[in-house]
Amino acid sequence: EAVEFGLDAPFEVEYHDSISSTNDRARELAAEGREDVVVLADEQTGGRGRLDREWTAPSGGIWLSIILRPTVPPASAPAFTLAAAVATTRAAREAGVDAAIKWPNDVLVTHGDTDRKLTGILTEMEGEADRVSWVVVGIGINANVEAADLVAGATSLREETGDVNRRVFTQRVLEEFHELRSDPDAVVPAWRELADTLGRRVRVDTSGGEVVGEAVDIEFPGTLVIETDDGPVRVSAGDCEHLRPV
Ligand code: BTN
Repeated sequence: EAVEFGLDAPFEVEYHDSISSTNDRARELAAEGREDVVVLADEQTGGRGRLDREWTAPSGGIWLSIILRPTVPPASAPAFTLAAAVATTRAAREAGVDAAIKWPNDVLVTHGDTDRKLTGILTEMEGEADRVSWVVVGIGINANVEAADLVAGATSLREETGDVNRRVFTQRVLEEFHELRSDPDAVVPAWRELADTLGRRVRVDTSGGEVVGEAVDIEFPGTLVIETDDGPVRVSAGDCEHLRPV
């Protein structure tokens, strides 16, 4: 319960010491008609990432899923992923970590030539063509996770700056997220400001093949515009299998 957990956020919080996946639990609650509930766990035993990948979620992290019932079409839902990335990046910077967003949904910390992943976001939804019935935004933050428990290429707040107060950090993420969801027009500009992707030459693997060029802009609800030799190509967030610098 929100008050008991000590979170003063515009969401009700259901906390679990250990759960298979907060996204799975949130989907159950969403199917029961719930909204503005956050499922939060210390540890996940069956965490899920994008594209059916596994997501390692040991004790010490912030693993949470937000249930929303917005009046938007499914095509607008990627904007919630961007909002989650902005919210997490802002909270990390406040905590003194020099985090940046990599399109579409990763929050990274750069060390020399390598980017290490601090946060992943998995947005899922159900609904009709013209309106979603629910959206679940899953945010996985390697907060106070020990180096030995991190997967290759990952970092944690503990590694970057030392342990954070997870209650305070979670509250900041939820407050920022709440502010952005009530002001959708602010999402893309905020994202642009915190992103590390624009202005770089990138290669994106999509279901339709590879796109190579300079990442020049992002458009609502999260489409990346790549200037290729043959002109601009737009890639939707959901269609990105992999993005790397070239
Ligand atoms: C990715 O980068 O592939 C996305 C990772 C998303 C992980 C979070 S942790 C909380 C929520 N529950 C899950 O099972 N996954 C998301």
